[in-house]
Amino acid sequence: MTPADYDAWYDTPRGRWIGETEYALASRLLAPQAGDSLLDVGCGTGWFTRRADADELVATGLDSSAAALAYARAQSGPTLNWAAGDARDLPFVDAGFDHVLSIAALCFVADERQAVTEIVRVARRRFAIGWLNRHSMLYREKGRDGGRGAYRGAHWHTAEEVRALFTGLPVARLALRSAIFLPSATRWARRLERVMPAALPWGGMLFVTGGKT
Ligand SMILES: C[S@@+](CC[C@H](N)C(=O)[O-])C[C@H]1O[C@@H](n2cnc3c(N)ncnc32)[C@H](O)[C@@H]1O
Repeated sequence: MTPADYDAWYDTPRGRWIGETEYALASRLLAPQAGDSLLDVGCGTGWFTRRADADELVATGLDSSAAALAYARAQSGPTLNWAAGDARDLPFVDAGFDHVLSIAALCFVADERQAVTEIVRVARRRFAIGWLNRHSMLYREKGRDGGRGAYRGAHWHTAEEVRALFTGLPVARLALRSAIFLPSATRWARRLERVMPAALPWGGMLFVTGGKT
């Protein structure tokens, strides 16, 4: 799949709904103010990075894929920053960003514990990391037998597995929240999403959020 094909999915009604729903939850969890800095780890084509920029955050996207970053750069305005790098060895100083966001990226990283340690290190205030949830409808539709489309090769986690990745790290108020309970995005799915408590751990996107101690 080319970066352009990947990003075009966010222009479909279902893709836009999923993107906006995930972003809305992440934004609620991070509670950023205009002008805050935000690092998007594993930004891919930069859809969430651009979304944060539209909310007047000083956004930086980092990815290990040169092709994805080239696409992201070509789509972006002058206020966005892009960096090539590895989530397991972030090229930034300790506490360098007010907020760190990462969506559906660590599911593709071999040493997730190292990536989580790095995200916590560079976050000054809060982080929100989204993983694909094995206990979800999305997994049943897209994740089984190695996964389909953009989900191919992803590692799908349980809530217990992602929580365990934070053991011993300097984090406070660790919480799990989820979104995308019915991934079909039909009218009923969208209505249900509005009333489902994000504290239920059955959405396709499982966020771990917390602050620094
Ligand atoms: C499914 S895409 C998600 C992109 C974006 N966050 C989104 O939700 O649209 C996963 C991204 O993780 C990136 N990635 C995988 N391993 C990485 C690593 N070790 N360091 C940085 N990025 C990585 C891939 O290049 C890819 O762009």
